[in-house]
Amino acid sequence: MTDIVVPGNALVVLLGPAGSGKSTFARRWFSETEVVSSDRCRAMIADSEMDISVSARAFALFNDILRHRLEIGRLAVADSTALTTLARRDLRTTARRAGAPVVVVALDVSLRTCTARDAARERIVGEQVVARHVALLRDALRALPREGYQAWHRLREEEIDDAVVRVEGRRPPVPVTPEMQEAYVREPWRRVSR
Ligand code: CTP
Ligand code: MG
Repeated sequence: MTDIVVPGNALVVLLGPAGSGKSTFARRWFSETEVVSSDRCRAMIADSEMDISVSARAFALFNDILRHRLEIGRLAVADSTALTTLARRDLRTTARRAGAPVVVVALDVSLRTCTARDAARERIVGEQVVARHVALLRDALRALPREGYQAWHRLREEEIDDAVVRVEGRRPPVPVTPEMQEAYVREPWRRVSR
């Protein structure tokens, strides 16, 4: 069993090909608001998770949300493929600027499984894309030890279901006080002050 310990203020970087189960893993172990998905960012901007014409905007938004969470000490889970050196460098930069540790969880799932799952779902990216992702995964797995993370974990296909994620010192949501309610009524526009 793989024990994945995550500091409560960390950036968790999920890494893996399309269909490897990143979003499924994220849903299982983290709350909806902790997970930031690059595909969802595309949809929030252009109404489609597949509209790659807005990828630059989507990744700017993706990084911004991650940054805001990390700057106020909240756990953030980056749900994107994170397969390229550049994508991982951007994520490390975001975390470093916010003073947050980075924990990488790489889902090492075979081309066969990813392709089968991809073909069976609604948003199909296709075998060519998945094959390219799997090739990038091999490079990424070689590069991870040198990229300077607080921790990185490689979960093989058969290890994913048995892995356990343990978040240590997660900040609870701020409790609502009477002062906050009063300030909200008086000056609602000033509620984003941190
Ligand atoms: N799935 C599955 N068994 C698993 C994990 C995932 O059958 N152990 C299925 C999911 O239900 C989904 C598909 O495989 O239909 C892809 O899983 P998903 O978590 O969406 O994969 P991602 O890595 O998030 O793919 P993408 O990069 O395309 O978002
Ligand atoms: Mg996904």
